[in-house]
Amino acid sequence: MIRILFICLGNICRSPSAEGILLQKLEQSGLAQKVKVDSAGIGGWHVGDAPDIRAQHEAMTRGYNLAQLSARQLNLNDFNQFDIILAMDQSNLEALRQMPQGQAVVDLFLNYALQINDDVKDPYYGNKQSFKTMFDVLEHGCDAIIQRIQSQLC
Ligand code: 4NP
Repeated sequence: MIRILFICLGNICRSPSAEGILLQKLEQSGLAQKVKVDSAGIGGWHVGDAPDIRAQHEAMTRGYNLAQLSARQLNLNDFNQFDIILAMDQSNLEALRQMPQGQAVVDLFLNYALQINDDVKDPYYGNKQSFKTMFDVLEHGCDAIIQRIQSQLC
């Protein structure tokens, strides 16, 4: 079992979208029983909230369902309860690095997925296009993560 945790600032836009995308791609790849996926926020402002409605709408147009997800805040146990913790941007990554580390590998989402040292940009203060772009980037990254997992499990 590989356990992956996606991290963003609020856990209502980027990381729950990545969770919903990866969950569905794992199902489609027959890997759902071999990988656990979750997401959490650095901050606690939105704890208990469903994903941002703009993310839910874009998810729906692409065939993903985020409605059952609810935001939670990262906690220190996560560093030992996950194998891979992926931060959506450099600022999230720096926040993670300042915490006591566990056994989890901590990396930037796009670096881990595609060896690109870049952020998944925060769409919260953006527009509809910001959410479309976010989904394009997350889908591309999650495809690469599936390939990495497949080669790891073989
Ligand atoms: P996320 O986006 O980190 O992708 O979930 C944000 C959500 C909420 C806030 C900032 C970013 N906020 O400031 O409340």
